[in-house]
Amino acid sequence: MLSGKVACITGGASGIGAATARLFVKEGARVVLGDTNIEKSQQLAEELGGEIVALAVQCDVRQEGEVEAFVKAATDAFGRLDIMVANAGYAGRQNTAGSLMENLYLEEFTRQIEVNLRGVALCIKHAGLAMKRNQPATESVCGVERPAPRGVILATSSVAGLLANCATSGDPMYISAGYGASKAGVITLVKLGACELAPYQIRVAGVAPGYVATPMVGAVLMGDPEKPTAEVAAALAATSCAKGVPIVPQDIANAFLFLASDAARCVTGHTLVVDNGMVAGVAGYVPCVQVDEA
Ligand SMILES: NC(=O)c1ccc[n+]([C@@H]2O[C@H](COP(=O)([O-])OP(=O)(O)OC[C@H]3O[C@@H](n4cnc5c(N)ncnc54)[C@H](O)[C@@H]3O)[C@@H](O)[C@H]2O)c1
Repeated sequence: MLSGKVACITGGASGIGAATARLFVKEGARVVLGDTNIEKSQQLAEELGGEIVALAVQCDVRQEGEVEAFVKAATDAFGRLDIMVANAGYAGRQNTAGSLMENLYLEEFTRQIEVNLRGVALCIKHAGLAMKRNQPATESVCGVERPAPRGVILATSSVAGLLANCATSGDPMYISAGYGASKAGVITLVKLGACELAPYQIRVAGVAPGYVATPMVGAVLMGDPEKPTAEVAAALAATSCAKGVPIVPQDIANAFLFLASDAARCVTGHTLVVDNGMVAGVAGYVPCVQVDEA
């Protein structure tokens, strides 16, 4: 589905980003992995076939110069950029006293906004600039002539951008302010980017995952980012949120594959929720926060 395409993936060393890189390469793309964890990125790039198909670049998405250099690394190595997946994220602590705004962990709040929101904005900016250099062309579909696509920018939001409480029943799972607000902001950046870049035939879309069995969730729910995927998945399967079917990174990669492909030619400005029905299940449920006033 992505034959000949060149994709940049932030947070590409682990979890959802790594699964997306594997799937994109399987589907014929060349990928550039941008991550603060350069060792893990390099290992994955090697596994994917080395520099003919996959490069690893040190990139902290909070730093504009590093995002710009990351995009340039893709265009220098592979001649163009077709797909950006702005996926790097920082969770921090969830469902703790600090999830309440009266106890705000300000340092975490700032980092969540910088990585999850500002990082996505910088990726949209620099990917958009690179994609505008792709030559305009036309395509014929169903006998209709129209402009051909010149690029697609995707971003990872979260159900945390849609809900303050991420449990379908039982104990609520409070989302921290910085994480929730950053992920809600991503949904808005996707809409703004879609409007701004539509005249250039560049699409912008998002994916809002529910809980996915990745190192991030291992850290948040089980206190250990090194837990094997199967163990994290088993823990998720036991929660009512996942309805007995844990979401794994491949499920989110599949959503990115669809959105990145020409099959989604007319999907822009949209954030696709991939959550096993979590949002549907809790819609209308407003949790009551118990605050000890003693
Ligand atoms: N796992 C979930 O349940 C879930 C749910 C909804 C949304 N998300 C989002 O999915 C995305 C991927 O998360 P994951 O679950 O695969 O986690 P993960 O921890 O497996 O991967 C996150 C990657 O981002 C990288 N990263 C962190 N800060 C960075 C920075 N400043 N610059 C560049 N890279 C950085 C990390 O090194 C890591 O490789 C994140 O945006 C996360 O918020 C995850």
